[in-house]
Amino acid sequence: MTAKIVVVGSFNADLVAYTERMPRPGETVHGKRFATGAGGKGSNQAVAAARLGADVSFIGRLGGDVFANLAYEIWDAEGVNHDFVSRDEEVATGVAPILVDSSGENMIVVVLGANQRLQESDIDAARERIAEADMLVIQREVNLAIVPYALRTARELGVATILNPAPADGTSPESIRLADILTPNEIELETLSGGAHEDVTSAARALLTRPDQTAVVTLGAQGARIVTPAETAIIPTFAVEVVDTTGAGDTFNAALAVGLAEKMALPEAVRFANAAAALCVTKPGAADSVPSRAEAQELLARRLATLKSKSRSGC
Ligand code: ATP
Ligand code: RIB
Repeated sequence: MTAKIVVVGSFNADLVAYTERMPRPGETVHGKRFATGAGGKGSNQAVAAARLGADVSFIGRLGGDVFANLAYEIWDAEGVNHDFVSRDEEVATGVAPILVDSSGENMIVVVLGANQRLQESDIDAARERIAEADMLVIQREVNLAIVPYALRTARELGVATILNPAPADGTSPESIRLADILTPNEIELETLSGGAHEDVTSAARALLTRPDQTAVVTLGAQGARIVTPAETAIIPTFAVEVVDTTGAGDTFNAALAVGLAEKMALPEAVRFANAAAALCVTKPGAADSVPSRAEAQELLARRLATLKSKSRSGC
């Protein structure tokens, strides 16, 4: 069964400088390498979901400049449908200057440009496509008025939703209430929950207002924690050599959407998401570093084989 996924979100041209260490404010450091690549949380999630085997449609806005070509190149190469992407000739395509240090950690500035022009009419135009989808995925790198509108539309149409509340600024209670699954990282969780909670589970529970809502909190090298109003479980990730963590969260969200759309149980979908995201951090770039379905499944199979041999030897 091929999962049908609609991603509403951003495209940014990523302008990435690789450096030994991050500069302090006011300081200049030497870069080791520079790369321009396709990015934006929305587009990264769309590309990742397609590479992981889903039938993906993207809803977004590009500007009138050459950076928009990067978007069409990657979407066409990966088979992401862009019938519902429009172009605003008078504004710039989103851009993201990114610094990546030798530990693979990043700092990102997002200049939204055309992403900010996304309108309710863009969602309305794709209503039939949304109705056919198994899952709608959205983040917060667009005109923020669109986020609750898209989530409400999906809900009306009976389509399950994932809100990746990134970047978070604590001003989106309606979106948080509307989404079926929330996927903050630890920083986003702290921002959204107001900070004063003793652990990840209680902070995540502070966001859940419906009994059928779930939070899947991503925890970097520790994996992810599933939190429902009644239960919580940590799903550890895979030990890998980190090159560049950019796009890890996006790959995780995409794989989670694909897994759930394919009717995997939630813990299984989170394991699949951990595998895909762990592979993503072993390569430079955002969308460029997303693994194929076969690569993610091979990592899962290797983990399973190790667990079986450990249990046979009594370890
Ligand atoms: P980013 O902004 O770097 O894309 P994020 O901050 O949104 O990521 P994280 O929680 O850091 O989100 O990472 C998302 C997922 O990526 C984790 O849940 C995990 O599955 C995987 N991941 C991230 N870092 C590592 C790591 N060092 N080793 C293995 N897996 C990792
Ligand atoms: O999540 C990674 C993405 O965040 C980058 O591709 C950058 O464009 C920013 O949107």
